Amino acid sequence: MNQNDMKKAAAEKALEFIQPDTIVGVGTGSTVNYFIDALAQIKNRIRGAVSSSEQSSQRLKDHGIEVFDLNSIDDLDVYIDGADEITQYMAMIKGGGAALTREKIVAAVAKKFICIADDSKQVDVLGNFPLPVEVIPMARSYVARELVKLGGDPECRQGVITDNGNVILDVYNLHILDPKALETKINALVGVVTNGLFALRGADILVLGTATDVKVIK
Ligand code: 5RP
Repeated sequence: MNQNDMKKAAAEKALEFIQPDTIVGVGTGSTVNYFIDALAQIKNRIRGAVSSSEQSSQRLKDHGIEVFDLNSIDDLDVYIDGADEITQYMAMIKGGGAALTREKIVAAVAKKFICIADDSKQVDVLGNFPLPVEVIPMARSYVARELVKLGGDPECRQGVITDNGNVILDVYNLHILDPKALETKINALVGVVTNGLFALRGADILVLGTATDVKVIK
């Protein structure tokens, strides 16, 4: 299996975690796109979806899946999303697709976070993938200076404005040994909307596509 096959296999396996007649939390990215396509095959068995990005909302709607406003939902059974990196402790870096803030919000509401990924995403230590930080535009330079003090090398992602109207600083050269502490520290900087560390609320289950099969890791 190549990387796309692994993503697709993990995405299809994740259908097993969906209960009939529920609303499904849906993330963003190429792995999630496979999941949305698979979800379309069982769309008559679910009520609909809550989405973490305009891109995923559009794909869901194109498949005829109803997209609900998160504010109209009391609870959410599962949230299914990809990751840029994930550790054995289920801490992740996310936000390669710039949807990190809405992803974190939907993940906070969901009872279970199910991460779908190919095995290139598994790492011992987070930080090889640059950490995305969503920032209010007028705070960009200030936050960048503060991120340098924390040991990173921030770069503004060119040509990208998030669904919330903000910019993304990608922070290079971090070797993240305590993801919960760094997540808290960066979120405390004035002007930061959120950062792409998902450690305080990590994944509950990892559905991992490998060269030979799909593993479910709890
Ligand atoms: C988007 C994300 C994605 O989940 C992450 O970038 C993984 O994407 P892909 O499935 O395309 O590898 O966090 O903001």
